[in-house]
Amino acid sequence: MDSRIPGFYKQDIDERRQAVADRAGLADEAVAAVGGRGLDPVRADTVSENVIGTLEYPLSIATNFRIDGEDRLIPMAIEETSVVAAASYGARMARERGGFTTQVTGPHMIAQIQAVDVADPFAAKQRVLDAQADLVALANDQDPVLVEHGGGCEDVQVRVLDTNRGPMVVTHLVVNVQDAMGGNAVNSMAEALAPEIESLTGGTVELRILSNLADRRIARARCTIPPELLADDDAELDGTAVRDRIADAGAFADADPYRAATHNKGIMNGIDAVTTATFNDWRAIEAGAHAYAALDGYASLSNYEVDADGNLACSIELPIQIGTVGGATQLQPVAGAAMDILGVDSADEFAGVLAAVGLAQNLAGLRALVSEGIQHGHMSLHAKNIAIQAGTPSHLVDDVAERMVEEDAIREDRAVELVDELSE
Ligand code: MEV
Repeated sequence: MDSRIPGFYKQDIDERRQAVADRAGLADEAVAAVGGRGLDPVRADTVSENVIGTLEYPLSIATNFRIDGEDRLIPMAIEETSVVAAASYGARMARERGGFTTQVTGPHMIAQIQAVDVADPFAAKQRVLDAQADLVALANDQDPVLVEHGGGCEDVQVRVLDTNRGPMVVTHLVVNVQDAMGGNAVNSMAEALAPEIESLTGGTVELRILSNLADRRIARARCTIPPELLADDDAELDGTAVRDRIADAGAFADADPYRAATHNKGIMNGIDAVTTATFNDWRAIEAGAHAYAALDGYASLSNYEVDADGNLACSIELPIQIGTVGGATQLQPVAGAAMDILGVDSADEFAGVLAAVGLAQNLAGLRALVSEGIQHGHMSLHAKNIAIQAGTPSHLVDDVAERMVEEDAIREDRAVELVDELSE
């Protein structure tokens, strides 16, 4: 399968859907789901509460991705113009040198059990650690299926926290959740262990819940970009200048939380869009990403440096909590089709793909920011939305948008004038 689809953006929606279906070998039902209405309201009523309808997003495909030697089409659902184009552009640049390489530490989630009113917190810590084997066994009794599949609780760690409500003994269960996101599995284990932790610590257990700072479930991606691919003729910048400016942008984000917030937001544009398209819990990944970025003072999740050959070496590292089994994906037929398009076989593979998408998104965003700025490209793609917002009749939307781009005047007031001119 080739993830390069020349002229894809110029095709109409039906042609694009067919091109993706052909490449991804989608079943007829999946193709019908993508072209259909999506989530049935009856089904929606079981997904959430007090449901009154369903909400649609565009489902798009980012092209050009090669990840660990394999081409992939990336489904993305997002309301922001130019994110999908940027991801595809970032992937196109990375592709020249083989695409992205990923590495994932393994699907380990952490559950926390908080004990308060512990008289001797450090001695209690030791008692919990001494009971590790029993605690692991008890945790694993909660999920024999997970254990059967090679997962389960593998480690117990204990931290004593000094809080403004006194010391707390916090037990962490480190659980290999295999291909699940794992929230339910680890929460059940934490709840089941609470009485044991109370008797070991002599305290009272209060919270028993997973930590979204999933620093035992880290995904990394990297790629190398030769400088000639970065040149921007319009901005009269050669490749090495753009390369150096991207490295400067990376250093800026690392040094300044104000910039890091926006830089990381750009990364999450891509990751959240794939997570939304596949009906997964993007808030968990967001929480984990920003908490991880803040571990040593809030900083960038990615890195840019110039390697010995003068290429731009790009990398990213963040926790990714995602699964390929369980979760809500199968409740939403379009999300099921999106998973078929993505074609990942395991949670680890999925996490690696998300890290690569985040890096592609970030790289393309920085390349635009350090050269012509993002507004030109963004507003050109956004011109049709501006025309529609200005009340342009649908048969004139394309013409009005085109004229506004030509004139570099992408504004509602100009759209209104153009409607008058073109209607005369
Ligand atoms: C816009 O949604 C994202 C960017 O602002 C990210 C960045 O500044 O790096 C372009």
